[in-house]
Amino acid sequence: MNPVEIIKAKKNNKSLRKEEIQYFINGYLNGEVADYQMSAFLMAVCFNGMSDEETFYLTETMLKSGRTVDLSHIKFPKVDKHSTGGVGDKTSLILAPLVASCEIAVPMISGRGLGHTGGTLDKLESIRGFNFNLSVEEYIRIIDKNNLVMSGQTDELCPADKKIYALRDVTSTIDNTSLITASIMSKKLAEGADSIVFDVKVGTGANLGDYDKCMELSGKLLSIAKKFNKKAIAILTDMNIPLGKKIGNWFEVEECIEVMNGADIPDLLKVNNILAGAMIYLAGKTDSIESGENIAMEKIRNGSAYNKFLETVEIQNGDVNYIMDFLHYKRPEYTYSFNATQDGFITKMDALNIGLASVELGAGRKRYTDVIDPLAGIIFKKVFGDRIMKDDIICELYSSSPQKISEAVKYIREAIEISPIEMPKRKLIIDIIK
Ligand code: URA
Repeated sequence: MNPVEIIKAKKNNKSLRKEEIQYFINGYLNGEVADYQMSAFLMAVCFNGMSDEETFYLTETMLKSGRTVDLSHIKFPKVDKHSTGGVGDKTSLILAPLVASCEIAVPMISGRGLGHTGGTLDKLESIRGFNFNLSVEEYIRIIDKNNLVMSGQTDELCPADKKIYALRDVTSTIDNTSLITASIMSKKLAEGADSIVFDVKVGTGANLGDYDKCMELSGKLLSIAKKFNKKAIAILTDMNIPLGKKIGNWFEVEECIEVMNGADIPDLLKVNNILAGAMIYLAGKTDSIESGENIAMEKIRNGSAYNKFLETVEIQNGDVNYIMDFLHYKRPEYTYSFNATQDGFITKMDALNIGLASVELGAGRKRYTDVIDPLAGIIFKKVFGDRIMKDDIICELYSSSPQKISEAVKYIREAIEISPIEMPKRKLIIDIIK
C-alpha cells in the first residue's frame, strides 16, 4: 500500500478499510510511514473524523501493536481510571493507591502530558528514581505484590500509542474523539483491567472542551469498552477551572501528598472521591457510587491511601525519603507573585490559559525533544469565587528562567478576572453515564 494514498483518502473524507488502518499504524512503527506522514494523517482525522467502525479498527490495531497483560490469576477485581486530560488533573496519584488499599487490584497504564494538559507519567517522573518503563514480567511482579502498578506505554505495551501520542502532543492533533478513544482504550485493554472509570473533562482546559463532543467521546469509550467485555462508567467533570491549587509536575505530586495527609482541597477531593467511589462500585464492593465515595474519604483519613502510595513509590524504585521530607521540597530558582489589581471576587480562572502558562514555565512540551522541568509550575493562593483585596497574591509562578516567567504571566493575565459581583458556585460533577 501507499501511505500517501491513505492520507489522501482521509483528507477527502473517505472511510478507511481495516487493512488500510493496519498498514498505516504498523507502518509507522516499522518505519515505512514517516513522522510527517503520520502528522498529516492525524490532522486529516482531526478535520474529517472517523466512523465507529474505523475507530474500532484503529483501537484494535493500536492494542495489537503490543502485548496484552493477562492478570486472570489475580483473585481481586481489577479496576482502573483514565482521564481525557485536564489542567491540575492529578487524581490518579491519589485514587490509584486509595483503591488498591481496598482489596482491588489497580493496573494502570498512563501517558505523558498532552498539549496544555498534564500527564501522569511526567508527574511520576518528577519523583526521583520512579521507574514506569516496565517489562511485562516486572509489571506483573509489581501488581502481584503491591496490588497497584503504574506504568507507561513501552515497546512491549501499546508501542503504537507511545509513538503516536508523542506526535499528537506537539502537532495540535489531540482534540478528536476517535484519536482519544483509540489512544485511551488501547492502553486500558492492554493493561489487564476488567472495569474502567472514565473521567471525561469538560471545559476550556480539557482536550475536548465542548459538552456535546464530550458526550460523543463518552459514548465511544463506553461502546468500545462494552465490545471488549469491560464494565465501564463515564463521569463528566468540570475543567473550566484547574483542579486543586498546584499546577506543574512535582507541584501536583506534592499536592497529592498533602491531600493524602489531610489537606482539605475541596474540588480535588470531590472529583477524586467520586472517581474512586465509582471504581469501588464497579469492583462490586458497594451497591452505589456514593457509598464508594464514603469509603474513599475514609481511606484518605485513616492513612491507607498514603501508605499504599509510599509502598508504590518504593516498589517502583522512587525516592521515598525525599517524598517524606516535607520541609525540604525543592523550588526552581525564579519565582514571581501575580497580585490582584483591584478588590472583588475571582470570577474567572481559565484552565486553558493557565495550562498554557504552565507549558511556558517549562512544565509541558512545545516540541517532542523538549525536556520537562519537573519543578516548574504555579501555586494558587486564591481560588475561583474567593473574595480578594487589591495587592493580594493570587498565584506564584515558578521557573528556571525569568524569560519563561514573563511569557507565562501574559497567559495568567488572560486567565484571571476579578469582578465586584460574586459568581455562582462551580458545578464539578456534570454527568454520570453508566
Ligand atoms: N489520554 C490519553 O491517553 N490519550 C488521549 O488522547 C487523551 C487523553
